[in-house]
Amino acid sequence: ENIEFNVGIDKLSFFVPNYFVDMTDLALARAVDPAKFHIGIGQDEMAVNPATQDIITFATSAAAQILSDEDKKQVDMVIVATESSVDESKAAAVVVHGLLGIQPFARSIEMKEACYAATAGLVLARDYVTLHQEKKVLVIATDIAKYGLNSGGEPTQGAGAVALLVTANPSILKLNADNVALTQDIYDFWRPTGQAYPSVDGKFSNSVYINAFSQVWDEYCRRYDATFSEFSAIAFHTPYTKMGKKALLPKIESENETIQKHLMDQFEKGIVYNRRVGNLYTGSLYLSLISLLENSELLTAGDKIGLFSYGSGTVAEFFSAQLVPGYEKHLRKAEHEALLNQRVRLSIEAYEAMFESKIDLNHNDSFDDPTLYSISEIKENHRLYRTK
Ligand code: HMG
Repeated sequence: ENIEFNVGIDKLSFFVPNYFVDMTDLALARAVDPAKFHIGIGQDEMAVNPATQDIITFATSAAAQILSDEDKKQVDMVIVATESSVDESKAAAVVVHGLLGIQPFARSIEMKEACYAATAGLVLARDYVTLHQEKKVLVIATDIAKYGLNSGGEPTQGAGAVALLVTANPSILKLNADNVALTQDIYDFWRPTGQAYPSVDGKFSNSVYINAFSQVWDEYCRRYDATFSEFSAIAFHTPYTKMGKKALLPKIESENETIQKHLMDQFEKGIVYNRRVGNLYTGSLYLSLISLLENSELLTAGDKIGLFSYGSGTVAEFFSAQLVPGYEKHLRKAEHEALLNQRVRLSIEAYEAMFESKIDLNHNDSFDDPTLYSISEIKENHRLYRTK
């Protein structure tokens, strides 16, 4: 229980595809008041990808931004968390490992439990590096959140990846070993094998999420005698940005006004990027963490940050991390803002056409996509990728 270690996130970055839908455009096309999407749901833009980009190209693009040649020699394990698999057998991590040029004597695996799996990956990475301090582990969360055109979940779609490099003596966040996990066998959102889009009980999923946060927070307080006052901020899994707020507000009702205001102000900093991307499933919590670190002006070294991870089905986890002195020098705010600002705004017609377009694995074909990593060719049922 009391092993002293200093392991955590040394580098972190995200990638989103180069197209988005403006939520006012979507609201007008669906005959909905735009205020419902911007205020009621809390989304301004939604990331969309063409069929030539997938979870592998997102994952590789996110990780390529942070890995040095030295890192590629030291990464010993590649963990890809996703619920948008492109293969039932071969792990996406194997392809990502190859595209990134990571040294061959590494382990590569894919992990699944809805939006929660990257947190399991992070815990595995933390514990592994604690045992093998000279090794590095690459954890990537990558997904495409698609509910279907005109579906109830449509305004909560998104696409992209987050990459985290876990090392000893990290430059950004030290991970504490205080995780409280909760597993409950519940059908709130699920996608049976072969089904293109998830089945979801939207309203029910909201209440299961809220209740899961309440349970893991209460258990955390019981185990560690914790209070909200010791947290400088809490980052949430963000299926849409209103969700975390709906879970946090009732729990801080009894706190004094200063703590309430502080946590809600920080919450807003943690959703700046998510408002412009939508749901990243496994990556959503970690996109929110990046948003918080890159947009909050109130954080300082030593601050404790809470993280709430949630995956339908369901598994939830609350844990914390400590900001390392000098962490701000290792962030990539300018690059991330440029990535978001340089995207192409799609008309609703173009979005609908992109949404429906698919790659046919049974038909040999080649593709031309200008982005750094993309699918170049389908050949004898193989997906082949291009690095520009
Ligand atoms: P809906 O029926 O479209 O929306 O479903 P609604 O009627 O509940 O309205 C949403 C909010 O907008 C409400 O506010 C309205 O009052 C407000 P709230 O009561 O929530 O505070 N509203 C307005 N506000 C301002 N001006 C207006 C206006 N009109 C209404 N004019 C829902 C919304 C999120 C349920 C739907 O989009 C959905 O099913 N999404 C997918 C499921 C989801 O994201 N669930 C979240 C929890 S589960 C989870 O996080 C796991 C997940 O990431 C998957 C995984 O783990 O793999 C999803």
